[in-house]
Amino acid sequence: MTNISKSFFGVEVLHDVNFEAEEGEVHALLGENGAGKSTLMNILGGVYTKDSGNVEFNGNAMENVTVQAATKAGIAFVHQELNVINDLRVYENMFLNKEIANRLGTLNKKEMIKQAQELFNSLGVDIDPNEYVGNLDSGRKQLLEISKAFHSDAKLYILDEPTTALNNEEIAHLFSLVRNLKAQGNTFIFISHKMPEIFEIADRYTVFRNGSLISTGRIADTTPEEATKLMVGEGYINEEVYMEHELGEPVLEIENFSGDGFYDIDLKVKRGEVVGLTGLKGSGSSELLQGIFGAAHVTSGTMKVWGQPVKTGSIIRAMRHHIAMLPANRKENSVIPDMTILENVYSAEHCLSMKNQHISRRRELAKYDNLKNLLNIKANSPDDMLLSLSGGNQQKVIVGRWINTDAKILILDNPTQGIDVGAKAEIYKLIVELARQGITIIISTLEIPEIQKVADRCIVFYGGRIHATLPREKIDEHEVMMYATNTKAAQRAAAG
Ligand SMILES: Nc1ncnc2c1ncn2[C@@H]1O[C@H](COP(=O)(O)OP(=O)(O)O)[C@@H](O)[C@H]1O
Ligand SMILES: [Mg+2]
Repeated sequence: MTNISKSFFGVEVLHDVNFEAEEGEVHALLGENGAGKSTLMNILGGVYTKDSGNVEFNGNAMENVTVQAATKAGIAFVHQELNVINDLRVYENMFLNKEIANRLGTLNKKEMIKQAQELFNSLGVDIDPNEYVGNLDSGRKQLLEISKAFHSDAKLYILDEPTTALNNEEIAHLFSLVRNLKAQGNTFIFISHKMPEIFEIADRYTVFRNGSLISTGRIADTTPEEATKLMVGEGYINEEVYMEHELGEPVLEIENFSGDGFYDIDLKVKRGEVVGLTGLKGSGSSELLQGIFGAAHVTSGTMKVWGQPVKTGSIIRAMRHHIAMLPANRKENSVIPDMTILENVYSAEHCLSMKNQHISRRRELAKYDNLKNLLNIKANSPDDMLLSLSGGNQQKVIVGRWINTDAKILILDNPTQGIDVGAKAEIYKLIVELARQGITIIISTLEIPEIQKVADRCIVFYGGRIHATLPREKIDEHEVMMYATNTKAAQRAAAG
């Protein structure tokens, strides 16, 4: 791809970009959210048309390609946003627009199911072809998307952030599939924000920043630190964000809280406090947060908000008590894909003000403008679809959705999942600033350094219970990891 430029609504998002992938390599495309990676790939895949520049694939010029033409030429694309249709069965998704029919023109369901099963077997993917896609968890949906691409007999595979919903085992498996296909001469363009993945799988890299090419080279000749620096430019990384601040009265007190996946939890949080919860996946912190917010069943225990008992089990009741929660997994649980940015921002607030018939667009726009400034949301019009934004900006909009409910207790479940370093840094700054303004924040994260960045206190979960509580000065990555993995018990057991 040479001298590619592209604008959306007068905003240039790709500026005279060159990009080259060689046959048989895994080429990592790096850059913060909004850098233009997906746009460039969408041009290659025929989804968007370029404003200028040239694309050549296997020596053939590709002028004004369509998705069909790109597919036919041998380009398979796993998009960043899941493209599966929940109301269809797995095999129907798989054979969408390439259905297998009998001679009489009726669909050959049996054959499609058989082929889907064979494909899953060969890929080692555990999905039932007959299942409704809506019943799959997000990891399985992502695997379905990837399987669909691998089904296509392509020469070039574009994987745009394919691992965001996969666990480590699934990622390792995907990488073994990639290595196999690579050994057969196939080429991969791999987009990810996770440095360990990139350094494990990629041969070369290209970095974009703000729609421009920054650097390209061999992975063997660089380091994760260097690559991160190239992505964000200077001065972003390891910036100190935490600020000493006064804590107020207790605003949330829970006692003997138990539910599905969390047991006997006692927790008292003060006004303006930032509490960081962590632990291995499934160790109870996310589950507890859902219990507090009324999104999951609490079987015993009591909750007080500003000293007043509040019954659990209802999200709207929690919201009326100024509790807000940003759930994990943006794509699945936060984004309303068919709505605009403004509609997404107001979806929570409208639940609270339902009885108010006079929703003034002017007032909403004014409030949105404030949020946009506060959160540094990079968007053109509030009437654009939310999905037109980069992942980091989508997440900022969702944070805005909850700030907009006049939340006093903000629960954040893995808020920086799948967003780039720059947007992450902005979210840390925001947390610290909101706390300074007296908002109480409970953040659950699998990344311990995030807690070090923002929290006054760290609570480590293990097996559904609070395993350790560490004040800010004692938060140490190694120590926290020891508690999260229960290393001490293992050491004791080993010592007999
Ligand atoms: N369909 C679209 N309409 C308007 N703006 C878009 C569209 N797609 C992408 N953009 C904008 O282009 C810029 C680059 O986005 P994108 O290519 O998705 O970045 P990346 O994949 O590197 O995160 C962002 O500012 C984004 O908001
Ligand atoms: Mg992208």
